[in-house]
Amino acid sequence: MRRFPAVVLLIVGMFILVACQPTVGVRPSIRPLPEVSLETAPIVANEQGRPLIPSVVEGRKVFERVCAQCHGVEGVGDGPLATFLKAPQKNPFTDTMRLLGITAKGGDLPSRPANFHNTVQMRLNSPTSMYEVATLGRPHTAMPAFGPKPAYGANDGMPGPRFLTDTERWHVIFYEWTFATSPASIERGRQIFQEREFPVPVPGVGTVRTACAGCHGSNGDGRGGALSPLMARRTWGWRLGHGPGIFRDRDFMVKRKPTELFAWIYDGIGLMPPYKQFLTTDEIWSLVDYIWTFVYEYTPPRGQQP
Ligand code: HEC
Ligand code: HEC
Repeated sequence: MRRFPAVVLLIVGMFILVACQPTVGVRPSIRPLPEVSLETAPIVANEQGRPLIPSVVEGRKVFERVCAQCHGVEGVGDGPLATFLKAPQKNPFTDTMRLLGITAKGGDLPSRPANFHNTVQMRLNSPTSMYEVATLGRPHTAMPAFGPKPAYGANDGMPGPRFLTDTERWHVIFYEWTFATSPASIERGRQIFQEREFPVPVPGVGTVRTACAGCHGSNGDGRGGALSPLMARRTWGWRLGHGPGIFRDRDFMVKRKPTELFAWIYDGIGLMPPYKQFLTTDEIWSLVDYIWTFVYEYTPPRGQQP
């Protein structure tokens, strides 16, 4: 009962507050739409928006200058800074509390740099997802942003050089990519892809003995193989030289994950037969490793010289 006057006061107060709001004239502003070109900009591109071929040799320079201090020279996550890294506790709540001079309970926890030799994790990454992490940083971990604008909550307190160009970021994530493979695996993949023939049922033709290159072309561009004209007749993408199965289509490939390529070789897709009855899982992973070399310029990383 004694609360009653307070509640009434509160309600009356709210009405007064609402009633006293200044009125705002909202005039619709009609701006002309920006001109949109139907040609899509390349994804794997330099600062000027020109297409770019990621190079492991260039990537290594950036990696050893900038990334190795946390990720370690050989990419296992044991750089000199690794043991000191903290995950910043930054979210709207901790930010508000900080404004009031209150530090979040417990403080910042340790953050461990990624180990690029962890194939289970790396096979689930796409080059685009890694590029995004290198560009925006990863919120709630010590992984800093190297692009112009960090994601909210990403580490922005890193000492030393902070900004890398688009070109440098594409090169460096492909250098990291190579830690999860080996020259031996890539060579085995090359042999199977280019040379090993399997009986393959081809619609409208019957069973044909062919290597992967017979359809995909020895350059991975979907041209030049004995069966590639047939594929081009049956699928739009192959006729235009982009999309699934055209490994030189860099912008398409960088969005794929190794696990997805594995699944398509294992079970087949569209005009491509399944290979699970012909190849071991290790052989299929080698094919996946080899296929990526159509996307970037491969050189073995440090510690893997053949
Ligand atoms: C200040 C230390 C630090 C530096 C310098 C650093 N990283 Fe990281 N990085 C981390 C940490 C910590 C993680 C793990 C984040 C997590 O827990 O998910 C990470 C994760 C990553 C990942 C995600 C890997 C995955 O599988 O999810 C990529 C990609 C990456 N770093 C790229 C780079 C590149 C490229 C550079 C150099 C340009 C670099 N990092 C420099 C600390 C660092
Ligand atoms: C009969 C022709 C043919 C042969 C032989 C063939 N492929 Fe394919 N492959 C295709 C076609 C066509 C596609 C695209 C499928 C679609 O678009 O439906 C494709 C798609 C793929 C993809 C999916 C790419 C992506 O972006 O997900 C991979 C990986 C692949 N092939 C690898 C191989 C490998 C490795 C071999 C040999 C072991 C092989 N292919 C043999 C025709 C073939």
